Amino acid sequence: MDIIERFEEQGQGQVFQHWDSLSEEEKSNLVSQAEEIDLDELKQLIDTLVLGGGSHDDIDFDSLKPFPFEPLPTDAASKARWDAARERGETILRQGKVAAFTVAGGQGTRLGYNGPKGTFPVTPINKKTLFQVFAEKIQAARKQYECRLPWYIMTSDINHEATVSFFEESEFFGLDSETVSFFRQGRMPAVGFDGKIILETKSSIAMSPDGHGGSLRALERSGALDEMEKGGVEIISYFQVDNPLVQAIDPAFIGFHAESGSSMSSKMLPKAYEKEKLGHFCELHGKLVVVEYSDMPDELTSRRDADGKLEFLAGSIAIHLVSTAFVRKLTARDSAFGLPFHKAEKKIPHLSTSGETVKPDEPNGIKFEMFVFDSLPFAENPIVMETTRLGDFSPVKNAEGVDSPATSEADQQRLFAQWLKAAGLEITTDTGGNPDRRIEISPLFAVSEGQFIEKVRTQSLDIPDSGDIFIE
Ligand code: UD1
Repeated sequence: MDIIERFEEQGQGQVFQHWDSLSEEEKSNLVSQAEEIDLDELKQLIDTLVLGGGSHDDIDFDSLKPFPFEPLPTDAASKARWDAARERGETILRQGKVAAFTVAGGQGTRLGYNGPKGTFPVTPINKKTLFQVFAEKIQAARKQYECRLPWYIMTSDINHEATVSFFEESEFFGLDSETVSFFRQGRMPAVGFDGKIILETKSSIAMSPDGHGGSLRALERSGALDEMEKGGVEIISYFQVDNPLVQAIDPAFIGFHAESGSSMSSKMLPKAYEKEKLGHFCELHGKLVVVEYSDMPDELTSRRDADGKLEFLAGSIAIHLVSTAFVRKLTARDSAFGLPFHKAEKKIPHLSTSGETVKPDEPNGIKFEMFVFDSLPFAENPIVMETTRLGDFSPVKNAEGVDSPATSEADQQRLFAQWLKAAGLEITTDTGGNPDRRIEISPLFAVSEGQFIEKVRTQSLDIPDSGDIFIE
């Protein structure tokens, strides 16, 4: 059966309503978009999430409990555990079993920046881009552990070419280009509230990235997973493109993950305030789940224990370790563990009756996305490990206010001021830890406080008496 008939049979014939007026090139573009769509999967989503009014977010909140986590070390015994985990992680890194993985397929709408988010400048003095910061962290780990440590970057149709060109123009920030790979994530069509696929123009469907959860099947479909396995990679260090403070490679995290025999592990931060926009790590019927901030009822978000501590304290900062074997299992053709799709009502540019593309003022349809943390319930022995805010998390999400370029720069400087003080160097800070001068320390010099102290001990640093402090 030809593709037009298949769409008609599914009640989606409107996709081809302008077929006769299209040029050969337009026809071929439309067909190739249509071929990307798994009509059976889409029908099921429309029946359940759109027409059925259901939601994959229907959660049994009464059964929800906080998920236990590995807290930061506080005493000698826990410090010894963390040291042992770090050593174990370092051995795994030296064995070349780790790859870095950045999900960078999002649209960055909230930041209002025109370009791939990874090309956004974020550091306080040199205004290095997010991609450069990650590249330098990866370079530093390669040097320290003498390993190949390949880096995979997931893009989407929206930003793939621009991302690859940016790396080429920047000469891969000194990394060997053969060790950096890019692949596109999948796309899903948007549908109206009536379940009909929306056309953006006469010859194109309104398609959008299938969510960061699409990264798992994109790893498999792009061949990246095969390549990783061939290269001996067993653990994928997953992080989002928006967070310059992430420890892209964290040996202690790797060590705890390996020790527990975990197939997927996560880092957590105690929420800074009740309504902080972080997913919550919870236990549901014996499984680890993340409940998004938008899905969590206020009563649970703000519930406190007898000591006045938030009961659902553990916030997800979207940093995970995922075993390659687990990705293989989840993405196998006959896998019983498909990730669910979530629906989001959006303003979707669409073809008007007069043949123009219009951007509506109100949501006019639904986009479907998968979330990577929905794989956690399928993971064996998952662990959640605490980290520090300055040590791992200060994302750039909004143009202003919380999680903005300004807050992220301030956090980077507070972290660097802490390192300087810990190494016994003079620096004046206010009560909030903010230095009175701009500071930037390149990941190529140090990626952690311990490494910074060690470097300062063995080589003399020329810190100016006033003005910016830049250490490379
Ligand atoms: C996300 C998490 C939230 C977590 C927070 C931490 C979701 C739904 N929520 O929120 O639990 O606490 O980060 O910062 O994810 N991306 C793709 N392809 C896509 C969509 C997104 O690669 O199709 C990437 C983006 O490039 C970005 C990351 O995923 O790196 C986060 O996406 P975003 O939609 O901004 O998530 P948040 O709502 O900020």
